[in-house]
Amino acid sequence: MKLSPRLRMVADLVREGVRVADVGTDHAYLPAFLVSSGKCPAAVASDLREGPLMNAVATLALHSVTQQIELRLSDGLDGFTAADADDFVFAGMGGTLIVELLARTDWLCDRTKRYIFQPMSHAELVRAFLLQNGFRILAEHACFDECRPYVAFCAAYDPDFRPHYRKSYIWMGELPQSLNEAARYYLTKQYIYLKQRADALEKAALLPDEVRVIREILPDLSPYICKKTKE
Ligand SMILES: C[S@@+](CC[C@H](N)C(=O)[O-])C[C@H]1O[C@@H](n2cnc3c(N)ncnc32)[C@H](O)[C@@H]1O
Repeated sequence: MKLSPRLRMVADLVREGVRVADVGTDHAYLPAFLVSSGKCPAAVASDLREGPLMNAVATLALHSVTQQIELRLSDGLDGFTAADADDFVFAGMGGTLIVELLARTDWLCDRTKRYIFQPMSHAELVRAFLLQNGFRILAEHACFDECRPYVAFCAAYDPDFRPHYRKSYIWMGELPQSLNEAARYYLTKQYIYLKQRADALEKAALLPDEVRVIREILPDLSPYICKKTKE
């Protein structure tokens, strides 16, 4: 079974040999790949709606993994307990929704669990939530899929790890440690967004405190962006 580059990047962040939960699974491509490749012995694939779970039924049958993957109707993690899986994946959803789902779950602070995120937008909100709640981002990667850059990162609860995070961290995550062309492209988009926002706010004489914070962040992003943008 072959995954898209985006989902393959997510699959690579899942630990070998663990039970995995894929929240918002749709076709269940990710858990079907993880189980059929032998990386994971079992999985739970959940979705908010029945339609996507019907797609998942077909995928599991096609790849002969119906016995090892449980399908579950659930709004976020509402239908889960910590005992359901070791690694929990949230891929293909917006960052705002991911934060909402995390914020209303009271059993996340378990050092043995891994949480893997592939937000389609507002990754900075997910990173900010993690930092504010005692989680540490362990690894982060970027890839191109059909010419669009995507990021994925995994986190664990580690309240004793309290480094001084710069304000720019939520916009960059751990991408400077795994810098490739897709990461540069993604960081360039973040840079352009923030610069345009600061310029527009400044021109309109609005939110001076936010403008000051953005002006502090931009030099941290600058070394990682695509060269043409700097000129
Ligand atoms: C774009 S698909 C992503 C599918 C797959 N995870 C991927 O990355 O390719 C988003 C899926 O999330 C589901 N979803 C949206 N809100 C959800 C929620 N609150 N709880 C569980 N699933 C949700 C949708 O029904 C949809 O199937």
